[in-house]
Amino acid sequence: MKVVVIGSGYVGLVSGTCFSEMGNKVTCVDIDERKIEKLKNGIIPIYEPGLEPMILKNVKAGNLFFTTNLGEAIKGAAIVFIAVGTPMGDDGSADLQYVLAVAKSIGETMQQRIVVVDKSTVPVGTADKVKATIQTALDKRDSSLDFDVVSNPEFLKEGAAINDFMKPDRVVIGADTDYAIDKMKQLYNPFFMSHDCLIAMDIRSAEMTKYAANAMLATKISFMNEIANICEKVGADANKVRVGIGSDSRIGYSFIYPGAGYGGSCFPKDVKALKKIAEEYGYEAKLITSVEDVNDAQKLVIAQKVVKRFGEDLTGKTFGIWGLAFKPGTDDMRESPAIYVINELVKRGAKIQAFDPKAIEEAKECYLKDVENITYCTSKYEVLQNADALILLTEWKEFRSPDFEEIKAQLKNPIIFDGRNQYNIFKLDENGFEYFQIGKE
Ligand code: UDX
Repeated sequence: MKVVVIGSGYVGLVSGTCFSEMGNKVTCVDIDERKIEKLKNGIIPIYEPGLEPMILKNVKAGNLFFTTNLGEAIKGAAIVFIAVGTPMGDDGSADLQYVLAVAKSIGETMQQRIVVVDKSTVPVGTADKVKATIQTALDKRDSSLDFDVVSNPEFLKEGAAINDFMKPDRVVIGADTDYAIDKMKQLYNPFFMSHDCLIAMDIRSAEMTKYAANAMLATKISFMNEIANICEKVGADANKVRVGIGSDSRIGYSFIYPGAGYGGSCFPKDVKALKKIAEEYGYEAKLITSVEDVNDAQKLVIAQKVVKRFGEDLTGKTFGIWGLAFKPGTDDMRESPAIYVINELVKRGAKIQAFDPKAIEEAKECYLKDVENITYCTSKYEVLQNADALILLTEWKEFRSPDFEEIKAQLKNPIIFDGRNQYNIFKLDENGFEYFQIGKE
């Protein structure tokens, strides 16, 4: 099948590449000429495990193409995905200008029936706007071409994107024509392992499903972080409480790890957007609002522990940071707790020495570019030289079982702040460390 994916960010690039892996002819489109030029030259603009070899293989096989020319790309395409960004607007709602600009271009250039798919996470009702925008553009051309608009939210996780896409738990399709559902079934069928896991529904329910899924997961995390904060007060251990409650199959073990707060491109943005959508329809989403408030506070919990230990004024203190990315397996720093912790410590006069296996360029070029007093190191132990304490913020595998004797030898004081509760098992307080974690005083 000829497929086009417009927007070559995380979701677009991964989706397009995985569709090409199944033998479809896929063209990825982006307005960013530099990005497309890089991709044409085999340079992949994001780090995602397994993505680069899959792109190179499918380009070589003649299944995957890159262009900035949308009109050319969609000639003869059966399905066109819109996977452009929906950044958070000033008021917290999703900014649809890029989605609608693409819809307009599709309407202006299409020459055959196309199933247009909203892959970006978009507010409920967006498919109707996309439909109206395409129709207006067609009317201007006096064209009576038929088209379909489908909502197909993406549930992939960064760092595990290829695997998630190739073996989906479910594929949600919101559509109002059998033609569109059939086309989507044909496209996705090769991805289903043992059974068809395509869930077809009406368009608004599909749009809402994505927000509900992310809000539910964010709620689990904020709930657990709140429980962890209460555990500290009452003398309980959140690590034990987590296992205790997770063993109930109705609750489950996943997404109840207490930590330095959730970050990333999805949870913070989608929780805010859902709150906004509800507000627009006259409903006050109290629980969702609290999920966000708890997370905002949680991002500063580690910094507060540092202040409690070292005092309000951190002048003359140096902290070694392990991990900048919002989670392991990605170079993405969007809404990463590290941004908040580092800014808070630097504001109080501290110096930072930081290491992350993948995110240092992101930090330097964007997320921490205005922060002074930060030195980026080339190894995890270099970070510790003459530092007053180690702070773990992202649980990359290489940080999970470190050489504690080496840590002790490098640090000025054997003090660890563990924002991801990775070292609880090592009984560090019995081995001469002062050890601080989340949810256990
Ligand atoms: C998320 C959803 O999981 C995915 O389905 C959706 O498509 C996009 O948003 P992603 O942003 O890649 O994916 O990250 P995820 O692995 O879900 O983690 C989000 C954040 O939650 C991270 O900052 C992580 O550290 C944090 N987290 C996760 C916790 O603090 N505790 C947990 O138990 C789980």
